[in-house]
Amino acid sequence: MQANDPNYVQIFDTTLRDGEQSPGASMNVEEKIAIARQLEQLNVDVIEAGFAASSEGDFVSVRRVSEAVATPIVLSLARTKEADIERAIRAVERAKRPGIHIFIATSDIHLQHKLMMSRQEVIDAAAWAVGLAGKHLDYIEFSAEDASRSDPEYLVSVFAEVIRAGAVTLNVPDTTGYALPHQTSALFRYLIGATPGGHGVRWSAHCHNDLGMAVANSLAAVEAGARQVECTVNGLGERAGNAAMDEIVMALRTRRDFFGLETGIVTEQIYAASRLVSQITGIPIPINKPIVGENAFAHEAGIHQDGVLKNKITYEIMRPETVGVGSNRLVLGKHSGRHAFVDRLKELGIAAQGIDMNKAFARFKTLADKKKSVYDEDLMAIVAEEAVRVPDRFELTALSVTSSTDVQPSASLRLRIDGVERAAQATGDGIVDACYHAIAAATGTRCKLERYAVKAITSGTDAQGEVSCLVRDGSLTSTGQGAHTDIIVASALAFLNALNKLEYRRRYEDRARVTGP
Ligand code: KIV
Ligand code: ZN
Repeated sequence: MQANDPNYVQIFDTTLRDGEQSPGASMNVEEKIAIARQLEQLNVDVIEAGFAASSEGDFVSVRRVSEAVATPIVLSLARTKEADIERAIRAVERAKRPGIHIFIATSDIHLQHKLMMSRQEVIDAAAWAVGLAGKHLDYIEFSAEDASRSDPEYLVSVFAEVIRAGAVTLNVPDTTGYALPHQTSALFRYLIGATPGGHGVRWSAHCHNDLGMAVANSLAAVEAGARQVECTVNGLGERAGNAAMDEIVMALRTRRDFFGLETGIVTEQIYAASRLVSQITGIPIPINKPIVGENAFAHEAGIHQDGVLKNKITYEIMRPETVGVGSNRLVLGKHSGRHAFVDRLKELGIAAQGIDMNKAFARFKTLADKKKSVYDEDLMAIVAEEAVRVPDRFELTALSVTSSTDVQPSASLRLRIDGVERAAQATGDGIVDACYHAIAAATGTRCKLERYAVKAITSGTDAQGEVSCLVRDGSLTSTGQGAHTDIIVASALAFLNALNKLEYRRRYEDRARVTGP
């Protein structure tokens, strides 16, 4: 189905922009590229790659994402300011399908307390900005920030002017997550009907989840005529997050009988995308999250299990395979060769661009030696880690720990730092604490560990533990991930990964500033 078909709902992914505004979810450029490639595999229509004018790092990320993907439209966010618009246009200039997303607030609350502008000044600024962008780009989206708390009649005037100035997509954000579904559908119906030129443009919903209604509001907007939904992988986003892409896409697909609409999303890629974003940001997927949570397809009650065994449709409205959830299948063993490994990745639809297959395969072999059964989830974890690997300044070469009920836990380790071996030893409240102190002693870091989480990738006592952590050094934060069958080693790897990423970021951003465009 074509994007201009009236029954097609365009999916606009803002994981890299609004998603990154989630506390502790900042990503480096390599991570953003890995996610953008996965979004392309999902076949999203639009990727909002960042806010180019907000920092040098964001500018570089938007530019690199623009070069990395071919099929989706790539946008940068911009305020109605000349410098923002120029920067955004520059950042997307190498995209195959470039665009810009211009926004200004329209609620009286924002006009009076934030912008200090009159209603007419906002209309003028919006139309001027869209007109300026239109001299360089065809694809212009305009957003009326805080639309759900704006005067609907005033919104009609704003939208009419930006349509005249050249905007092709009009976004009606529920910025504060305040709207109720029946209000959202009424607002969309009114705006589409009353705005001059409103039938010739695409209307878009952008809902936040402060009251847990982002998905319901997005679907209400679609029911009322919106043909774009802005969403994020795992519902990541500012405060309580944005509408979750997987939930919207699967609601539209599962209830096609009601909506009669299509998206272009390759749903089998949903689970891989969810895992990748969780692994990169270190933000876990709640166990009971719809679609991609661990329990989403688990039937516990005997009566349910009995029904499902007799016929799955008794309690299952979707098949796990449809969203790419594997059945913990034993895929490969230690005798499997490189071909089998690469073929399985292909079957899983995992994008191999940007991954050093030699390294990924070597890691698989090491894992297969330690672990009897290697599952799809293990492969996804290996590939996701390799996809975002930055050059390691700090490498773990040896680790030994002691712990008992009677003595204080201690850790001794050896690191290779810039090619030189260094040893350190430390004690702590627990073994993980001792490890972190030993790493701090060897590297000289003063970073604070702000978040630490461990989870098993698959079931069984030989499962790999996946550790993710968030470290802070002044205003810079970085997440780190480590997977290993020994969770203490996984913890050390996660901490070192976070430190390596911090180093990379400092160096990369410095370089970007010096050689910047
Ligand atoms: O929530 C919001 O209003 C936004 C806009 C910039 C679209 O993120
Ligand atoms: Zn938002």
